[in-house]
Amino acid sequence: MPIDEDLKKAVLDHAKIEEVVSSFLPTIKKGKDYVAKCPFHDDTNPSMRISPSRHIFKCFVCGTGGDAISFVSKYLHIPYREAMIKVAEISGYDDPRLKNQTNSRPVDQRKTTLLKCLKDLSLYYSYALSTPEGKEGLDYLNNRQLDASMREKYRLGYAFNDGKATIDFLTSRGHSLKTIEDTGIAIMSNGKYRDRSEGRVIFPLFDIDGNVIGFSARRIKNNDDAKYVNSPETYLFHKSSVLYNYHIAKEKARIAGHIYVLEGFMDVFALARIGMDNAVAIMGTALTQEHIALLRQLNVEIRMCLDGDLPGQTATLKCAKMLSESGLKVSIVDNQNSSRDPDEILNQDGPDALRVYLNKLLSYEDFVLNYYKNSNPLTTNEQKKKLIAEFMPILLRLKSQLDFDNYVHKLSIITGYDYESIRDLVSRSRNKSEEETKKEVRIFHPEAKLLKRLQIAERELLYQMLHNPEAVVFYEHNVNSFYDEIYRNIANFIIDYAQNHASFNVLDIISNIEQSESENKEQLLEEITALCFENTHPKHCSVELLDNLLSSIKEEKEKIFEKDMLEQSLKDKDELERARIYSEYNRRRKIDDK
Ligand code: CTP
Ligand code: MN
Repeated sequence: MPIDEDLKKAVLDHAKIEEVVSSFLPTIKKGKDYVAKCPFHDDTNPSMRISPSRHIFKCFVCGTGGDAISFVSKYLHIPYREAMIKVAEISGYDDPRLKNQTNSRPVDQRKTTLLKCLKDLSLYYSYALSTPEGKEGLDYLNNRQLDASMREKYRLGYAFNDGKATIDFLTSRGHSLKTIEDTGIAIMSNGKYRDRSEGRVIFPLFDIDGNVIGFSARRIKNNDDAKYVNSPETYLFHKSSVLYNYHIAKEKARIAGHIYVLEGFMDVFALARIGMDNAVAIMGTALTQEHIALLRQLNVEIRMCLDGDLPGQTATLKCAKMLSESGLKVSIVDNQNSSRDPDEILNQDGPDALRVYLNKLLSYEDFVLNYYKNSNPLTTNEQKKKLIAEFMPILLRLKSQLDFDNYVHKLSIITGYDYESIRDLVSRSRNKSEEETKKEVRIFHPEAKLLKRLQIAERELLYQMLHNPEAVVFYEHNVNSFYDEIYRNIANFIIDYAQNHASFNVLDIISNIEQSESENKEQLLEEITALCFENTHPKHCSVELLDNLLSSIKEEKEKIFEKDMLEQSLKDKDELERARIYSEYNRRRKIDDK
């Protein structure tokens, strides 16, 4: 089925490319555009430009470029059609036609088999809660205030004490031992498989679409057994990339504009019980880059809420730093020294207390200052300088002058150094880093490439053709054909487009190239997107400019023609004669060039 062009156009019109790209990568605003480290090659500098006004992105090093949909398609390695749906989702565009876009990706048979087995098992665990043997599980969940609606929403369950029966149940449902093994739910004892979660309450773990991919099983009694037993790493389950409750929270977070990142699922349940579904848990482990990638896609503020004790605060600092350096907006629930988690606060003090707790937020900058103030002694000069050094990158990232003044002021109070000295220190390092980025940008900018006169003139004219219909007419009448093959092909696309459209839209031309059968399509896209970003071209397209370009192009073409002729004429001459003609030619060229 071909792509529905109108739908595609509607999706692209609605999407903000900077928002789409930012939902996968950190981006930095540079003038009208944004820059980012290019994800399509091993980039160390931000070589990718994103243009909100032109709705395109372009990497100046590896050449990758295109619109918001092709970005997502390339970034996630998914077909264009699927990327279109994703872009619509990211930009909050709802269109009934999107529903008809069938998924063109081949089914992953292995995944399907495992998911089916895990689903059957999850139903079995839920069913167990309604049996007499499962009563202790049900009592436990009830004691923890997890009522029927919570149990259903999170598909909570109980694993019977008889772990062999679990395996028998699954085989009776037609799942092979190999499949059962691959789900990671079984352990071998005395040559037989048993359920590794037997006798525990079950918290299914979900993928981003809400499929069960593993389980976490909690002990019921307060004994020395491990509190939680989790599924091992499997084909489907990778603990480091799971954010508990993401499948529910993703929509709710977009509506709320923020998401709470909590430590455990009991905390997620606590928030759900007071009607806040915009919360996920990192399940005790460290925050990973995979987690950050998932959070980034939501485009919302991240509210961190881990434990209030010192290890919890240290973990918070680390996570918040990662998030902030990844360009996400972070704030932190101010829970320093509070020893209770959200679940305990709700059970002991009630819903309002939990709401108050969750709404007491610190900015990332304030959190860092408080953390250092409270956890490190600030007596020696060395300690104070270290704090300033730690805080420097944070100050450098602040965009608002008011925030900047505010934090320099606070830092000055905490350290005892005066405001001006700290401010001067920051501006010195800001100048340095700006110099460096400027240098980087210059190195990679195609304009820095030494282009020959002909190429410069043709490129200039092509740029004008992309923006001014008069330039297109001028080209057709006077130039007719560029010497450079790529430019020539692009010019043909522009002419084609101009013939069929009254108004001009570069994006449409790019889109036409994208959908064409051109052999050198990739190269054409590279050049046209690069061209769109060049800002050295005259904005005003005068007749004079066009005439100048025309003479440059004519002269240079003439020279090439002459040289070709020369080469022809040299073919059947002897060495001496060739040397004479050649030096005569070069002498003339030198005079011409002056
Ligand atoms: N966790 C885990 N394995 C453990 C301990 C903890 O996977 N052995 C994860 C769980 O996801 C848990 C989270 O870390 O939800 C936080 O741990 P903890 O604070 O100890 O648990 P709580 O959520 O407070 O659970 P409970 O209230 O039942 O003690
Ligand atoms: Mn707890």
